[in-house]
Amino acid sequence: MERLQKVMAHAGVASRRKSEELILKGHVKVNGKVVTELGTQVGNSDKVEVDGIPIDREEPVYFLLNKPRNMISAVSDDKDRQVVTDLFPQVEQRIYPVGRLDYDTTGALILTNDGELSQMLMHPKFHIDKTYVAKVEGLINNRSLSKLEKGIVIEGRKTAPAKVKLLSADKIKNVSMVELTIHEGRNQQVKNMFKAVGHPVQKLKRETYGTLNLSGLRPGEWRELKSFEINQLRNLVEQNKKEIN
Ligand code: URA
Repeated sequence: MERLQKVMAHAGVASRRKSEELILKGHVKVNGKVVTELGTQVGNSDKVEVDGIPIDREEPVYFLLNKPRNMISAVSDDKDRQVVTDLFPQVEQRIYPVGRLDYDTTGALILTNDGELSQMLMHPKFHIDKTYVAKVEGLINNRSLSKLEKGIVIEGRKTAPAKVKLLSADKIKNVSMVELTIHEGRNQQVKNMFKAVGHPVQKLKRETYGTLNLSGLRPGEWRELKSFEINQLRNLVEQNKKEIN
């Protein structure tokens, strides 16, 4: 048995807090009866409806994919391009990617049907670190690296402090390899950050997502997360939540 608001959040109806509001306002029925008690416990056989629509109570599942290039981080595409869920034909649950990587970006991408964890991981306030390795045009100097580290203004808003490490520089090819760790998830953030310091990204890979890394996964390969890994992700969110409060 689990608390009703937790079951709703897991099903991706809304965050736990918003689910509580829905319960209090009488939007939720359990086995045909409106329930306004927040502590209500429900089991697998109980039928939960929100505004008359049954919620989906699939078993939560969690996967880590090494996303290949030229694939959309979505469950469908109006231009009929390949999407990441095409790589999971044998998974029956309706999984979706947690956040997105660009069409041409490779690397660590979580897919799940756990709406609650997904929302928390994506929320910038929970500060989940993501480490990228970027191949950028030109030989990047310390001044630019330091700007990236301190934060730069993109679309009128400064990026949060980042961790930056120059991995290598190739004078002949005129490119640099830079590792960048950020916790925000603004649209095309890494590419825009490098562009802002005059070093457009040629190739981008996400090496880590929170506590997860790509070890053992080639592009296009995925594996199910172990329960300790799911707990580590939850702990990261909880830990960061405490630091904020
Ligand atoms: N930042 C980007 O610019 N692209 C990605 O795919 C991810 C982060």
